[in-house]
Amino acid sequence: MTTASSADHPTRRDFLFVATGAAAAVGGAAALWPFVSQMNPDASTIAAGAPIEVDLSPVAEGQDIKVFWRGKPIYISHRTKKQIDEARAVPVASLPDPQSDEARVKAGHDQWLVVIGICTHLGCIPIAHEGNYDGFFCPCHGSQYDSSGRIRQGPAPLNLAVPPYQFVSDTKIQIG
Ligand code: FES
Repeated sequence: MTTASSADHPTRRDFLFVATGAAAAVGGAAALWPFVSQMNPDASTIAAGAPIEVDLSPVAEGQDIKVFWRGKPIYISHRTKKQIDEARAVPVASLPDPQSDEARVKAGHDQWLVVIGICTHLGCIPIAHEGNYDGFFCPCHGSQYDSSGRIRQGPAPLNLAVPPYQFVSDTKIQIG
């Protein structure tokens, strides 16, 4: 299995964890990252499937946060220009699950990637800012996703799913 050291990816240190009421599902590794609390509906409301709003203003370029919606981990990445350029330089037809980067983000908000953090192989939670494609690495069987959340290497058959969401302001999204 290919993995990458944190020394190769210093931005991992910048990972922010944003808690929602459903934060009980947090894995041990995620607890290593700084913790930023945020107002959201309470746990029972979220569990019932209510939309959640996420304030993006604390998320600096190059950082990722993780929130929970309907019990699922949602990664929100504030991508750098380099990450966007890398994602858009790839010939779409060469991808295992061909999809343009433009189709996976909201027009005018291209720096923000929002994906469900569940590996499309067997459901593990990938790690952000890991792997060979400046995206996500699944430690279970080595699947690697790029900075658009598209599968690039490993056994996963599909890209990380994009949840339903919309921008309600320049710095706030509603998921669900
Ligand atoms: S569950 Fe992610 S690679 Fe198998």
